[in-house]
Amino acid sequence: MDEMNASPDILKIQELEKIARQLEPSPELRKAAREGVIDYTENFIDNIETIPAFVEERKSSEILTNLSVSEAPTSLNEVLETLKTGLDVSGLNPASGGHLGYIPGGGIYYAALGDYWADITNRYAGIFYAGPGAVRLENSLIRWVAELVGYPADCAGNLASGGSIANLSAIVAARDFQKITSEKVEKSVIYVSSQAHHCIFKAIRIAGLGESVIRYLPLDENYRIKPDELNKIIQEDIRQNLIPFLVIASAGTTDVGAVDPLEPIGNIAKKHNLWYHIDAAYGGFFILTDYDKS
Ligand SMILES: Cc1ncc(COP(=O)(O)O)c(C=O)c1O
Repeated sequence: MDEMNASPDILKIQELEKIARQLEPSPELRKAAREGVIDYTENFIDNIETIPAFVEERKSSEILTNLSVSEAPTSLNEVLETLKTGLDVSGLNPASGGHLGYIPGGGIYYAALGDYWADITNRYAGIFYAGPGAVRLENSLIRWVAELVGYPADCAGNLASGGSIANLSAIVAARDFQKITSEKVEKSVIYVSSQAHHCIFKAIRIAGLGESVIRYLPLDENYRIKPDELNKIIQEDIRQNLIPFLVIASAGTTDVGAVDPLEPIGNIAKKHNLWYHIDAAYGGFFILTDYDKS
């Protein structure tokens, strides 16, 4: 349609399109930005063996305290310099060769490229018709993990964005499956180790179970739940007319990596009809190693 004959609405849309297009970088700008970021990250990787594992907080890194956020663009060099001097300078450096691997670890190069690809293509993965490939990929990964763990073929699951949301989903599933409606909350009992990750306690509150009875289970000298003690405590709670409904164990605790005796705890949970949740956010994939299962 030529501009002379365009309706006012079309002219308005064309005007807005020109403004919106300013957000789309040209191929040249994309190349410059990509190369700037690649130079920075390659330099980081080339020096990874010798960068310190921890650097005390420095005065210079305070620049991010008073960052001025404006509508005006900032050059890429300036942005990278700000990140270098304000962020990449102090605190823990989990990617360093000197950092003894604990939970925070270095990034994985191919995973970073995967994130880049996913952010550029940005496929919607929430429902099948909108992203059948993405949903199939998720399902295949769930199948792979389920087989690794030894779950039955008819099991189901979903990929969560992290351990906190996975634990929250599990606790809500337990609450609903066990029909812990509001009037039952105060009498309902959750069994957990004091070594459980703090997101479990957050999830209990978010799930509306903050007024439940929380039983911190006795632990052995390796910080693992003692299954016999769990059994006794559940029996006592049943005698007291409480409603035991959920036991939470860890396949690798955050502080010491303790793996609770998962099967014996599961058997007790089954015997008393409790929902059994295992937080495997940290240690679940120990299963890929030849770890000592005793
Ligand atoms: C055992 C365990 N559960 C849950 C979490 C929380 O996971 P996220 O930080 O991904 O929410 C962590 C994090 O370290 C963890 O170690």
